[in-house]
Amino acid sequence: MRISGLFPAAAVALACIVAVSQTTEKPTAAKRTVKPRTAAVTVAATPPMGWNSWNFFARKVTDQDIRGAADQMVATGMKDAGYVYVNIDDTWEGERDANGVLHTNSKFPDMKALADYVHSKGLKIGIYSGPGPKTCAGFEGSLGHEEQDAQLYASWGIDYLKYDLCSFREAVMEKQAPNDKAEQMRLMEAAYAKMGKALKATGRPIVYSFCQYGWDATWEWAPAIGGNLWRTTDDVQPNWDRIAVIGFSQDGLEKYAGPGHWNDPDMLEVGNGKLTLAENRAHFSLWAMLAAPLLAGNDLPNMKPEIKAILMNKDVIAIDQDKLGRQGSRGYVDGEVEVWKRHLAGGAMAIAVFNTAYNGRFETHPFHLSLTRLGLHGPQQGKDLWSGKPITLTDNMAIEIGKHDVLLVRIDAPK
Ligand code: GLA
Repeated sequence: MRISGLFPAAAVALACIVAVSQTTEKPTAAKRTVKPRTAAVTVAATPPMGWNSWNFFARKVTDQDIRGAADQMVATGMKDAGYVYVNIDDTWEGERDANGVLHTNSKFPDMKALADYVHSKGLKIGIYSGPGPKTCAGFEGSLGHEEQDAQLYASWGIDYLKYDLCSFREAVMEKQAPNDKAEQMRLMEAAYAKMGKALKATGRPIVYSFCQYGWDATWEWAPAIGGNLWRTTDDVQPNWDRIAVIGFSQDGLEKYAGPGHWNDPDMLEVGNGKLTLAENRAHFSLWAMLAAPLLAGNDLPNMKPEIKAILMNKDVIAIDQDKLGRQGSRGYVDGEVEVWKRHLAGGAMAIAVFNTAYNGRFETHPFHLSLTRLGLHGPQQGKDLWSGKPITLTDNMAIEIGKHDVLLVRIDAPK
């Protein structure tokens, strides 16, 4: 937040966040019963933190890049800040041999050696596949080889699997059940359950990340079949409109998140594209309010100090990683301002006020924060987590928040 004078003359906002639609048609949810989770949480007790290759390297990622990322995670302090997983996304896969064993391609000469290297740094390593014959980038998928692949991952020492639907839609769902959406969804769920079982059978604790874009209300059934996190939307992009559409659409999903099972609004774009510092801050704050997995996706060796300061803000990370594991939700919206709240362990609370600024309304006029609408009474002593300074929130107080910026406050003893 900037407590400053007037902001530059209101520019005409280029896009209205609500106008940005998702690209994939969402099928309707097939009716299913949610089975409660009873097993002890062995992985992802708090939302997984780490780094993934896709948002920066995409198809170009190599063994060297992953080693470099692991080195940087340690050198920059990311590891000490809690980022543990170094995840290889799509394009590591080679061909299967006559026995069906999958081999890596030439970009990844020795996956076991790479995993050992990452582990030697005190980090964990993740990999990527999908239930279809091909991955999203057209590489070998796991269809028909689920147990074999799971065993292979375990033999390499893999700690995390992102499993991406992609070609399973065309190759299996649409082929086996044309015009029957409900049956298609059952096939999809069975495919995710199959890999879940295969991972479990390895005996290795492997975080299981569903990537099927929130189809069929994933959150309703993913935890019961071993999902530790599940994407809730199509892909994120390094621009504010996409980040805002995804982030603010998570309201209502909070009841599905908890230790061992998290909604995943996709990986972080902090430090990528042309995001302003305010946008990077707001993006990171929103993901923390959402108890989202924090998987950085930036160019670690060339990380600017101000990006480092965002990704490693301990207070904000503590909101994300709060032990209670209660995802935040929308308090209220006032025009262009989104006010979110999150209950934290020990009775504490976080409040985040975002200026989405799609019409520039609050760029020239202060916003008046209602504590009453958040269920709070009287002045609240807190900490502004971006300035690091104490702040007292009072009902109807005037605050000025720049375009796409945020005021994020932790209140230890809310009243
Ligand atoms: C999909 C996923 C992305 C990424 C790519 C890789 O688009 O949603 O996160 O894994 O596939 O091909």
